[in-house]
Amino acid sequence: MILKSIKGTKDLLPLESSRWQHVEQVVRGVFHRYNYKEIRTPMFELTQLFSRSIGELTDIVGKEMYTFTDRSGDSITLRPEGTASVIRSYIQNNLGEAQPLVKVYYMGPMFRQERPQAGRLRQFHQFGAEAIGSPTPETDVEIIAMAAEIYRRFGLTNVALKINSVGDEECRPLYKDVLRTELLKIADKLSMDSQKRIGQNPMRVLDSKDAQDMFLTAGMPRITDHLNEACSVHFERVKELLTLMGIPYTVDPRLVRGLDYYTKTAFELTSDELGSQSALAGGGRYDLLTKELGGKQTPAVGFAAGMERLMMVLEKNNLTAPALRPTLFIAAADDAARSWSITTTMELRSRGTSVETDFLNRSLKAQMREADRQLARHVVVVGAHELASGKATLKNLDDHTTRDVDLSLLAESVMD
Ligand code: HAM
Repeated sequence: MILKSIKGTKDLLPLESSRWQHVEQVVRGVFHRYNYKEIRTPMFELTQLFSRSIGELTDIVGKEMYTFTDRSGDSITLRPEGTASVIRSYIQNNLGEAQPLVKVYYMGPMFRQERPQAGRLRQFHQFGAEAIGSPTPETDVEIIAMAAEIYRRFGLTNVALKINSVGDEECRPLYKDVLRTELLKIADKLSMDSQKRIGQNPMRVLDSKDAQDMFLTAGMPRITDHLNEACSVHFERVKELLTLMGIPYTVDPRLVRGLDYYTKTAFELTSDELGSQSALAGGGRYDLLTKELGGKQTPAVGFAAGMERLMMVLEKNNLTAPALRPTLFIAAADDAARSWSITTTMELRSRGTSVETDFLNRSLKAQMREADRQLARHVVVVGAHELASGKATLKNLDDHTTRDVDLSLLAESVMD
């Protein structure tokens, strides 16, 4: 029996991985310009970390986590997202001691046992950033602007920004009471999941993807009409700054996000080219999480983006980067040139050029085909004659021009 990969997971094949590398490099470049530094946390953590931070009543914790008991009897979970681990690490390593505002980013695989479909995987990849230690709306806007800039960098113009405020520990409970009262009036018509949530977390009902739920809750009271002074001032400033920076947005009072740790600002970047999984990225402020996880109360804000979804929109718009290509292919015209080809290939590689040659003792014709297949930028054919004269013909495979070059200056000759 041939073993296959697990449903909802994907191999990243060589052609694709070079596109990913390019995208990751651009994303790292944006993070660097905003002065965010990389943090790498483990891919698995104690289950409690996620249930306490993301929230017991969320789909992620309730239905989607890959949780198992390890050989020591600990309950372990493959990380479904990055924020909880970053905050765990922030507390554990006293990162706040060295500086009041810690700005970190991460990239890597996350795991959620969702029903796989286009743009939804069980092992997917996120890049994201967290700014820990600032309560200001300016920091929210830095995070939003940085996320938006990443898509702009790739030439994607069709990305919409939705923002909301989900209130804080003072005004949210009051809003929840108002919402619960309204929801209870129509409870029997709502989906079972939504009915279960009315009691403890009625706002989650607004996030239901059930068509009937969406229809029935369309006219429900809005959080934006129930914010206290502090949340309201904060939200107004976020909007004002976005406008000043020329970042278009719409306010969506139903935006509650799939995780429970948010306070004040919540946002999503969406693309209508993604079908039902339209969220490219999401994030927001989470001022209570650090305390919830046992640290000092520390305001924080962040976002995370789906890598596969970004790749999907790039492909749809023909914006994927070209594959990585060797700069030179050295073809050996006869046996006399084989040793020279191999040693020169190795030498040029160690001097920094990407070079390929023939390792399968193929005919010259087959080697030329291989140079094409590898998308080499240049090819040089070397035989006894070229070795004797020290000169050969270098062909540019992109524009098909040729020129005579010194074999001792091959590396210089292929420099773009
Ligand atoms: P999230 O909205 O759960 O937020 O995920 C962020 C992004 O990850 C989504 O917008 C989507 O692009 C991608 N994503 C999520 N699930 C899948 C999946 N099953 N398959 C493919 N892509 C997926 C968070 O994870 C928060 N930690 C964001 C955050 C950071 N908030 C504050 N800081």
